[in-house]
Amino acid sequence: MGRRNKELPLLEQVTVADAGAEGMAVARVDGLVVFVPFVVPGDVVDIQLYKKKKHYAEGRAVKFHSLSDLRVEARCPHFGVCGGCKWQTMSYPAQLEAKQRQVRDNLERLGNVDCSGMRPICGSENIYYYRNKLEFTFSTKAWRTAEEIASGAPLPAHGALGFHIPQLFDKVLNIEHCALQADPSNDLRLAVRQYAEEHDLDYYDIRNHTGFLRNLVVRNTSTGQWMVIVIVAQDDTARLFPLLDMLVERFPQITSLQYIVNTKFNDSYGDLDVVTYRGSDHIEECMEGYQGSRNLHFIINPKSFYQTNSAQAQRLYSFVAELAELQPGDTLYDLYTGTGTIALFLADKCRRVVGIEYVEEAIADAKANALRNGFDNTAFYAGDMAQVLTEEFIAANGRPDVVVTDPPRAGMHEKVVAQLLATAPRKIVYVSCNPATQARDLQLLAERYEVKRIQPVDMFPHTQHVENIAELVLKS
Ligand SMILES: C[S@@+](CC[C@H](N)C(=O)[O-])C[C@H]1O[C@@H](n2cnc3c(N)ncnc32)[C@H](O)[C@@H]1O
Repeated sequence: MGRRNKELPLLEQVTVADAGAEGMAVARVDGLVVFVPFVVPGDVVDIQLYKKKKHYAEGRAVKFHSLSDLRVEARCPHFGVCGGCKWQTMSYPAQLEAKQRQVRDNLERLGNVDCSGMRPICGSENIYYYRNKLEFTFSTKAWRTAEEIASGAPLPAHGALGFHIPQLFDKVLNIEHCALQADPSNDLRLAVRQYAEEHDLDYYDIRNHTGFLRNLVVRNTSTGQWMVIVIVAQDDTARLFPLLDMLVERFPQITSLQYIVNTKFNDSYGDLDVVTYRGSDHIEECMEGYQGSRNLHFIINPKSFYQTNSAQAQRLYSFVAELAELQPGDTLYDLYTGTGTIALFLADKCRRVVGIEYVEEAIADAKANALRNGFDNTAFYAGDMAQVLTEEFIAANGRPDVVVTDPPRAGMHEKVVAQLLATAPRKIVYVSCNPATQARDLQLLAERYEVKRIQPVDMFPHTQHVENIAELVLKS
C-alpha cells in the first residue's frame, strides 16, 4: 500500500518578506523558508502548504488579511493562472529593487565580489508589449480555471491555443489577451483560433500524437515587420493553405509567412525545414548604433535567436560598449556570440572581432549579418567553447585585448575560465543572465581580475529574470 501524504499545515497571518526565485515570493515562519506564488512582499496572508521539506516549503495564499503598499493592479487577464509575468502585481520600482538585490546578494554571498562599483539597475522603458517573439501551443487539453469549472461553462471543443501551464506539459491555457507583444499579435492568434474552430482544424494531442495544428510563432521587429510561423503535424496543404490565405488577407502587416511540418514527438523545430508561403524568408531588425556609430541591420530567420526585448538589447549592448572601452587597434573576442549581435555592435570600435558560438546556424547568421552591415574585420567560428578557445586558436586569431563573454545560464566551463586566466586580456566584460553562476565564475577569475563597474539590466519586466554586466580589469 502506498504511503499517504500527511496533511500539511495552514500558516496563518504570515507577512510575505521578499521576492524569491522562479517568480515566487518568500515568507519565513519559525526558520522555515516558504515559497508562495502570486503574492507581494508586505502582503499578510494565510498560506496553505502543499509541499514541505526540511528547510523549505511551498504553499499558496488562501486568504489575504492585508495588502502590501507595493501592490499594483495586474494588467493581464490571465494573471494568477498563466505561468509568465508572476511579478505583475508588484510595482515596477519594487521589481527593480528586488532584481538589484538579487544580483548584489549573489555576487557578494556566492562570489565574494566587492560590489562597490554597482550601478542602479537599468529598467525597461516599456514594461508591457516589450517582447518581439511569442510561441503559442495548440492542445486538445485546455486548462480550466476554478471559476470556469464552477461556472459550468462547457470545455472548448477544440482545446486551447496559448501557453503551457507550468509543470503540466499537455495542459494549455487559452489566451484571450497577452500583454507582452504589440498588436496585431493578439488579433492574429485569435483569428487563427476562430478560423480553426470554424473550419474544423483539430489541435494536436501530445499524448496520442494526433491532431493537426501544433504551434504558432509570432515575431516582429521595431521596423514594423512581422513573421508568422504555423507549425502543423501533417503535410496536409489542403487544410493548411486556406488558413494561411486567411492570414495573408486579414493581416497585411505580415511580411514573412512560413510553415513547418513537424511529425516528431516533440515541439522543437530547429532540425526541420521551414517553408516560406508568402513574403520574405526572414525579417530584418534595425538597431541604433553605439554613440554615433551607424545603425545595424540584423537578418532574423525563423530559427535565429534574437534578444526578445529589442529596446533593452540596445541598452544592454551600449553598456557593454561603454564598459569595454575599446581602442581602435584592439582585437576583441565575443564568446557565446549567438548571431553575432554584440560582436557587430562593437565591430567599428576596434581593429578585429572574433566571435565563437556552438550553434552552426547562428554562426551562419552572424556571417550574413556581418556582410549585410559591410564589416570586413570580423571572423566567426562554430564549436563548443571549451574545445575551440585554445592556445592554438588564439595564436591563429590573435591575442584578444578585450573579451566579452555572454554564456548561457550555466555560466562558463572551467576550461574556458582557465583559458581566459592564461590569455589574460586587458579587460573582460562578463554579461550574464544568471547572477549565481556569474558569481562563481567571477570568484575563479579573481585570481587575476578585479571587478570594477557592475551594471544590472532588466530585460524581462514582471519576471524574476535579470541580466547583469560586470567589468573585469586585469590586475597589474
Ligand atoms: C546568452 S546567449 C548569448 C547570445 C548573444 N550574446 C546575444 O546577445 O544575442 C548564449 C549563447 O551561448 C551559446 N552556447 C551555449 N553553450 C555553448 C558552448 N558550450 N559553446 C559555445 N556556445 C555556447 C548559445 O547557443 C547561445 O547562443
